[in-house]
Amino acid sequence: MPVLFGHRYLAFIVVVFLLVFLIFKPLGTQPHGALDHMQLRVPGKAFSDVLNSTLGFQELFVLNLPERSDRRDAMTLSAALTKLDVKWIDGIDGKDVPDRVLPGDSWDKKISKGNKGSWRAHMDALQRIVRENLTSALILEDDADWDIRLKQQMQVFAQAARALTQPTPKASSTGKPLSATEPQSEISISQIPTNLRSRLTPYGDNWDVLWLGHCGTDFPSAPTILPHKDDASKPKVPLLRITIPNDPTVPDHKHLKPHPFALQDSLAKEYPPHTRVVHSSYKTTCTQAYAVSQQGARKLLYQFGLKTLTTGWDLMLGDWCDGLYPQEKQPICVTVQPPLFSHHYGKGAASDITAPGGGFVNKDKEMTPYVRLSVRVNMERLVQGVGVEGLVDQWEDPE
Ligand SMILES: *[C@@H]1O[C@H](CO)[C@@H](O)[C@H](O)[C@H]1NC(C)=O
Ligand SMILES: *[C@@H]1O[C@H](CO)[C@@H](O)[C@H](O)[C@H]1NC(C)=O
Repeated sequence: MPVLFGHRYLAFIVVVFLLVFLIFKPLGTQPHGALDHMQLRVPGKAFSDVLNSTLGFQELFVLNLPERSDRRDAMTLSAALTKLDVKWIDGIDGKDVPDRVLPGDSWDKKISKGNKGSWRAHMDALQRIVRENLTSALILEDDADWDIRLKQQMQVFAQAARALTQPTPKASSTGKPLSATEPQSEISISQIPTNLRSRLTPYGDNWDVLWLGHCGTDFPSAPTILPHKDDASKPKVPLLRITIPNDPTVPDHKHLKPHPFALQDSLAKEYPPHTRVVHSSYKTTCTQAYAVSQQGARKLLYQFGLKTLTTGWDLMLGDWCDGLYPQEKQPICVTVQPPLFSHHYGKGAASDITAPGGGFVNKDKEMTPYVRLSVRVNMERLVQGVGVEGLVDQWEDPE
């Protein structure tokens, strides 16, 4: 065979291989379980603190009634298996909360024992954040669960949160400021500049609450139903949305309403599968996980430690974020759909839920809505040292 022909032949083969590789490679990176399939841009050094054992907050607190040692065991393991460092805030039984410590406006209300106990535990967490002058802390309920890829998810969330809470973020593509008040104003995470500075926390400097674990939230997209009678046309909750497309940790639409008490998911109606959306909190309920900044903790402790106790803590926090309490400025509460933390439903008696959406106990199968590679569901495998490829994806994509 002539040498020249051989070279051409070889070059031809190489080109064909390259073409085949380029054409078929994207097929191999469909949303799927493993970590390296995360097609998310993990930002550089500015976000590296998010990977530390407190997720870039100053502390992680877990609310737990000391008598629920079962939950403390499970949470201790979950944290260890995902390299997190948690501290406990002792939960409080409502019968141990005397009436004389309740805020003034609760006197004519019937506050259930459950609500009193939960209120006090959350106030104790806020009080500690203020007392210790923490820049920020994440408050978790003791039955919260998350994906083993939480830290990567939080890095991407941090980038979105920073953009949302900057005064006027500019799109990197157009250089034009993003409008937070125009209806349906929306931007993809890939268009966010990565050089947004923040000094106090990796999630930005100007926020009150990051509502990361909930059992339902709305998009703040309908100005007419917003509560400000004085100025109904101008919603005070910013409308800007930041989308994270092709996030392999988001379950398919089919799995977005996984239990009978879940609220209707507008996410599935408005976005393609595997999209996560970060936006201002609106009508959010349940507090499986939320972070507060120092400024947020001070405002909340003042409002709810000293002034207001009228109903369940999550409902009050939701109203507060929606701007229903008189305040100088609209609070800055950021949330995410689907949430990054969720309630773990244990088998049978392991669950005694009093939160809204509660009362649902799956007797045969444990599960956590929205969370694909759940730490709790995979706990046995994780303890045995099974790698990512061997874990169970609770919400597998339909074929
Ligand atoms: C994680 O990072 C945050 C933000 O820089 C910091 O406040 C916190 O102390 C760090 N946590 C640990 C355990 O180093
Ligand atoms: C609380 O921390 C901030 C910085 O995060 C600092 O500027 C302030 O002086 C601290 N306050 C007290 C009372 O130490």
